[in-house]
Amino acid sequence: MAEISAELIARITAAGQQHVLRFFDELSYDDQENLKSQLEAVNWESLPALAAEYVVKRPETAIPDDLAPAGYFRISDAGMAKRYAEADARGIELLKQGKICCLTVAGGQGTRLGFDAPKGTYPIGPVSNRTLFEYFASSILRLSEKYNCSIPWYIMTSPINRAATENFFKAHNFFGLAEKDLFFFTQGTMPAFGLDGKLLMSSKSSLALSPDGHGGTLLALRRSGALDKMKQDGTEIVSYFQVDNPLVPVVSPRFAGLLALENAEVGAIVLSKTGPFEKLGNFCMSCGRTMIIEYSDLPAELAEKRNADGSLQYSAGSPAIHVFSRNYIERLTAGNSLQLPWHRADKKIASINDAGELCTPADNNGVKLESFIFDALPLAEKVILFEGDRNELFAPTKNLTGVDSVESCRRMISDRNARRLAACGVDIPRNADGSCNAEIEIDPRLVCDDADAAALVAATGLKAILPGQKVAL
Ligand code: UTP
Repeated sequence: MAEISAELIARITAAGQQHVLRFFDELSYDDQENLKSQLEAVNWESLPALAAEYVVKRPETAIPDDLAPAGYFRISDAGMAKRYAEADARGIELLKQGKICCLTVAGGQGTRLGFDAPKGTYPIGPVSNRTLFEYFASSILRLSEKYNCSIPWYIMTSPINRAATENFFKAHNFFGLAEKDLFFFTQGTMPAFGLDGKLLMSSKSSLALSPDGHGGTLLALRRSGALDKMKQDGTEIVSYFQVDNPLVPVVSPRFAGLLALENAEVGAIVLSKTGPFEKLGNFCMSCGRTMIIEYSDLPAELAEKRNADGSLQYSAGSPAIHVFSRNYIERLTAGNSLQLPWHRADKKIASINDAGELCTPADNNGVKLESFIFDALPLAEKVILFEGDRNELFAPTKNLTGVDSVESCRRMISDRNARRLAACGVDIPRNADGSCNAEIEIDPRLVCDDADAAALVAATGLKAILPGQKVAL
């Protein structure tokens, strides 16, 4: 029988959660050990307040009185041309010096996609079925070849998908990347609550645990030793992106260069919103700090506020593409702690009943708490916001079909490639709405920018693509 200390039992009891031990005595030794290690990792003292604030009550996001739209560097600001050229040069210099790394958050559960394996292993390529992970790996390889540098890649998983993710990379020989430049690390978990504030259990020997949100990234970097490795490697800038967006530039020299030139701690890409209620977080200002208000929390009268020229006042949407200075992550996580605010998500959570039987609910029966990385923005001394072109860099794969889906993502990949080829003089077949009437994939191992695309077209002698053709270059 595994020993569980009286002190731990007292902490669990004081938190009003003693039901988690109700099957302990009937478990095998290994199962007891498993449950015990989960229970030891829970911060029991914080649970009563969390349950009261976020579960039993429904938390409301307070909108600051002084909330104002955030300003940002515009893509096509002629007055910025010189500054952008300087930023390009600085970003490329930093790359060549090996001072930029990539960071992908891949610990999510991808429930909307309904794909059982880690999302990064999803075959997103419209022609080749290349996976999301291969997109990023190939882009990193191309950039490191182009600038003759190494670009370490940090990949955050959850405890649930860590082994499957690493095994996938091993099975594909790390996609040609040097193993020393890859660093997998695991984010924390959070136990799920029933609607009454009691913790749910997924079996007699396990709490219902789920990843603690991408807000767990910064502390997980510290705790895993990733931050130490960055320091040893001389990394200064961390290029952060989500696992579901194959269009993302794994490193944008201009964006990274601007962060360095402006001496900012955090940079975030901005998309100009297509309408007041587009489902993107809104970049705002309060008390001189940059913050994001989720689309569901921004009051309609603010979302619809317009400038004299008819443009939206709150026009800066977030595609979750950031750059962080390493010093900022060091500063925030010094002392090995950082707790960003929690956000509540109501979910259907399979859990055991008092008889120990697993029940799959038809309706939401519980609450998961997650923290979000964008809540770290107000903690930065200086944030720069930089507009990106959504057609060039944002194709999130959240669902199978419809908005932000595999379908829309594949179309956007083809459309972007069509634009690149058309700019090099290749004839592209078009649909009535101007979209490309072909499926076109370009290997990111070969092309990371327009100059690469021109070289590829010259080398292949490609002149035209036929209507409906599937082309993999
Ligand atoms: P999403 O908010 O899209 O969540 O994550 P998800 O879990 O992938 O998908 P759904 O909501 O269940 O359908 C945005 C990014 O943050 C990462 C995801 O892997 C994705 O890259 N993420 C999310 C984490 O790394 N950890 C988390 O705990 C949550």
